[in-house]
Amino acid sequence: MASVIRTDNLTKTYGELRAVDSVSLSVEKGSLFGLLGPNGSGKTTMIKMLTGQIKATSGSAEVLGHDSLKDGIKVREVVGIIPEQETPPSFLTSSEYLSFVAKIRNIEGIEKKADWWFDYLDFADKKDVLCKDLSRGTRQKLMFAQAFLHNPEIALIDEPLINLDPVMQRKVKNFLKDYVKAGNTIFLSTHILEIAEDICTDFAILHKGKLLHTGKVGELKEKGVHLDDFFMDLLERS
Ligand SMILES: Nc1ncnc2c1ncn2[C@@H]1O[C@H](COP(=O)(O)OP(=O)(O)OP(=O)(O)O)[C@@H](O)[C@H]1O
Ligand SMILES: [Mg+2]
Repeated sequence: MASVIRTDNLTKTYGELRAVDSVSLSVEKGSLFGLLGPNGSGKTTMIKMLTGQIKATSGSAEVLGHDSLKDGIKVREVVGIIPEQETPPSFLTSSEYLSFVAKIRNIEGIEKKADWWFDYLDFADKKDVLCKDLSRGTRQKLMFAQAFLHNPEIALIDEPLINLDPVMQRKVKNFLKDYVKAGNTIFLSTHILEIAEDICTDFAILHKGKLLHTGKVGELKEKGVHLDDFFMDLLERS
């Protein structure tokens, strides 16, 4: 299988702090890759470097063959991104925001595509509501829709389910599973291990910026090991 995301000794320092410390990993096409780790372990920093939102201090990163350090604009053009705790522009309605994204990304037939998302995530009644007046979960639904409007081959999503109710969580999880079955790749960060165990095919564990482990979720399941037990043991030993 071809690897669609690759990092080699990727590092980000803030003064003395090594937020991400020499991380080398590879993500295969068609995987649902979960980047796991406690608060402050470097997950968001990894996603920001991969998408060229922040410059790495050293090392290299490539997404779909594009250099994240030198050509972040190209990476952001081809991937979908749901940033951590990002909210859509307060002054646009939900539907205006999706039209705005469609213009930037040259997406045709936006009305139909937007309607599909409004129906799928059950927020058609909020189409014409200003984003500033949306609930947190509805804003997250909108951020989810914007990331997938252009059917990206890869989406990098930072804690995508945290504000969603159980019904919506299930919908989003099913969407992500189907998305990778169709040959796309998802790179998601989470510290909710049940979500990772439920939907991820592959996982990596970061701790204090360092990559402690990469593996297949299926292999743990075959051994009858729960991901949360594995995670706790690994952290205790490190
Ligand atoms: N702009 C910055 N300046 C200084 N330190 C930063 C900056 N951004 C992140 N950090 C630090 O880098 C480390 C990694 O942060 P990061 O946000 O990547 O963690 P995370 O794994 O996403 O955590 P969480 O699970 O809480 O979202 C933390 O110690 C954080 O305080
Ligand atoms: Mg984070």
